[in-house]
Amino acid sequence: MSDTHELILEAIHVTKKYPASGGRVLTANHDINLNMYRGRTLGVVGESGCGKSTFMRMVVSLENPTEGEILYHGQDITKLKGEKLRLHRQNIQMVFQDPMAAFSPKMRIMDIICEPLLNFKRIKKSEKEAVARKYLEMVELPGDFALRYPHNMSGGQRQRVGIARSLTLEPEIIICDEATAALDVSVQKTIIELLVKLQKEKNIAIGFICHDVALVQALAHEVAVMYLGNIVEVMPGDRIAKGCMHPYTKALLGAVFDLKMDFDKPIESIESEAPSPLDVPAGCPFQDRCDHCMEKCKKERPVLKQVGKDHQVACHLY
Ligand SMILES: Nc1ncnc2c1ncn2[C@@H]1O[C@H](COP(=O)(O)OP(=O)(O)OP(=O)(O)O)[C@@H](O)[C@H]1O
Ligand code: SF4
Ligand SMILES: [Mg+2]
Repeated sequence: MSDTHELILEAIHVTKKYPASGGRVLTANHDINLNMYRGRTLGVVGESGCGKSTFMRMVVSLENPTEGEILYHGQDITKLKGEKLRLHRQNIQMVFQDPMAAFSPKMRIMDIICEPLLNFKRIKKSEKEAVARKYLEMVELPGDFALRYPHNMSGGQRQRVGIARSLTLEPEIIICDEATAALDVSVQKTIIELLVKLQKEKNIAIGFICHDVALVQALAHEVAVMYLGNIVEVMPGDRIAKGCMHPYTKALLGAVFDLKMDFDKPIESIESEAPSPLDVPAGCPFQDRCDHCMEKCKKERPVLKQVGKDHQVACHLY
């Protein structure tokens, strides 16, 4: 992948720690190394609380890492401040689960779509409706929706508006944090198709956070599997079903297949509860739930190793 696609963003040894009660430390992300490429989708998958949103919040500069760097075209964006940070924010946009929840019900769709453009003084107020219509068409909604209010729209339509809004500043990267999780399966599919289409047209890099490995593998060129703040496997989405190697990835897939690929159900069928990121054991973070756990796994933390083309695994079995 790295040979043929332009590298846009590089997370290097990114760790995020939060202070927790009793003077303890919660490690939400531990030593993460991931890349994003032009026109490609990076999927991040894992159970609730594994640290997916924490990572992407740092990518969109809502938070800074405790350690490590995030390079955007070679520049460490974690060091940006003030006006430089404000201007940089145009490059990486985020689509939330329900982007419209953040907006006043009194705002019309054209105000919602055009707000980022007005903030950066890229258009005049008089141009709002025409611009909104253009972006509504881009996300396959009728131009007349520009005059509507969000409550007069379905969840899928609102998500299309969220995507339209994220595109207005012509970002190089869009981060979708569970952007389709609240939608019906059939609507989810049409939104994913839209994202894929827009990506091809605009050559955008997409970061797609999802707890559903079946969904993410269908969409992501590259998938990073996260467990308790650690990336445990990275590989092309279309090879996961047959080629994944980490016991956790296999468990996730097993859980999905047991559910007959029901996209609606969260992955909760792995038998034991995941330990908390407050007390990650020494050694492999997955040891308590792993059928293959060996003595070495309890002492030594496995690091990501190259096991094939574009395929890395952190497990002592390999
Ligand atoms: N601001 C914060 N302060 C303290 N702890 C936090 C903070 N933000 C996240 N955490 C903790 O960090 C861990 C990772 O959280 P994160 O939201 O990144 O998980 P996630 O994978 O996005 O989960 P979900 O699928 O439920 O959205 C969790 O244990 C969470 O409680
Ligand atoms: S390192 Fe050991 S405990 Fe961890 S996933 Fe591999 S076999 Fe299981
Ligand atoms: Mg999250």
